[in-house]
Amino acid sequence: MKTLYLILFLIISNSAVCQIKKWEISNENASKSNTVEINYKSLSIGKNIVIKTCVSCHGNKIDGNGLMKSTSLISDSFNKQSDGMIFTKISEGRELMPSFKGMLKEEEIWSVINYLRALYNPSLIPPPKDVSMDVELNEEIKSITAFIYTKSDTAKIPLKDVDIHFYVKRQFGLMNIGEANNLTKENGRVTVSIPDNIIGDDMGNIQILVKIENSIEFKNTEKSFTKPWGEALKTDDKWYDKNSLWGTSAKTPVWLLMLIIGISSIVFACLTYVFFIIYKIKKSSEIYLN
Ligand code: HEC
Repeated sequence: MKTLYLILFLIISNSAVCQIKKWEISNENASKSNTVEINYKSLSIGKNIVIKTCVSCHGNKIDGNGLMKSTSLISDSFNKQSDGMIFTKISEGRELMPSFKGMLKEEEIWSVINYLRALYNPSLIPPPKDVSMDVELNEEIKSITAFIYTKSDTAKIPLKDVDIHFYVKRQFGLMNIGEANNLTKENGRVTVSIPDNIIGDDMGNIQILVKIENSIEFKNTEKSFTKPWGEALKTDDKWYDKNSLWGTSAKTPVWLLMLIIGISSIVFACLTYVFFIIYKIKKSSEIYLN
């Protein structure tokens, strides 16, 4: 009887250890409602957090296939849960899912949920707005200013906090210039300077791109132009002027010439010796045959 108890005890305690901890969500937490409205701002905040913090484990498509097997956050079953349930899961965490309570503010978690809902159901995203962009250049200090505005009948209305990306086109891809985020100020403008020592073409021309991209609020917009603000690319076509063996304009150094002649003579001498030996062998065989 004692052994039976012992076995029973072992089975129960073992299964308790092996079992994954359950999500503990009280009814009160599950019925919490989202305090943040779905709008451009909360969607942008949510998108930034998801890209920076969640895709590593949940995958680029948030389908649960990231660095580790996690959970799809765009599936039907996930989206059947209430906002309050998802909020509790993100704030409390479980096993490998970290607790984000200390790292994200409540409004930020709600914004993340808004963004996840919008990924599942894109019709929740308000359509992107058209904007206009002017590019102003300062030739003296090699700086670029992007001016973002909407047009009314009479004036240009500046837009604040639009994120602008500046690039210099390279042979393979684009080089970022300015900060990671370049937000327009009250006057709708943001300025970046072109760094020194950028290598351009043989005239020092560089191609610069100014873009609004991957924004939820605004349509992709792009301007590009070319300026001689880089350093000229120096190509080394003095190859034949060098003091080298093949140098035609400059004299070959004597030691190099002697070295080459020396090596060639040794090779030639060896070959002559080999042919001489073969000749001797042939001769001696003739004597033998006769
Ligand atoms: C270190 C890896 C990692 C990171 C980073 C991470 N997660 Fe998770 N997440 C997981 C894993 C693993 C699970 C599955 C956990 C489980 O079911 O026990 C999970 C589960 C979840 C769940 C529960 C899904 C469900 O309905 O059962 C939600 C919601 C979630 N993650 C949201 C997020 C959000 C939002 C972020 C970014 C702020 C994030 N996760 C960042 C690994 C991660």
